[in-house]
Amino acid sequence: MKSLNEVLARELDLMLETWNYHWNVEGPLFPSLHVLFESQYQSLQEISDGIAERIRALGVVAETRVNIIIAKGTSTQEMLGNLATKHEALARWMQDELVPAYAEAGDAASADLLTQTLHKHDKAAWMLRATAR
Ligand SMILES: [Fe+2]
Repeated sequence: MKSLNEVLARELDLMLETWNYHWNVEGPLFPSLHVLFESQYQSLQEISDGIAERIRALGVVAETRVNIIIAKGTSTQEMLGNLATKHEALARWMQDELVPAYAEAGDAASADLLTQTLHKHDKAAWMLRATAR
């Protein structure tokens, strides 16, 4: 079973990428995207905090593994697509693999936390896809 520290690493990467886009987005959609990205990196910070605190509640050290390089000159459409794809991948991973595995292992609290988190990723992906149209 994948550890919650692996989930935390991916959430932190996505938070940092979203935060970077909040700074670097340019063009006619700047005002709305600057605000959208801000709300999404703040949500990802809350998600990361919840997962880290669940890791601690399980008696494990919460790790900070960051592995991200953000290309310069990313277009607005690429930003929206990159983030949506990552939110969708996280939601799919949680739904198809993590939630069933944690439920099967009898860790209902982690399964519940991951279920709540996948709702948030679905919602973020929808907002990004709707903006990109
Ligand atoms: Fe800011």
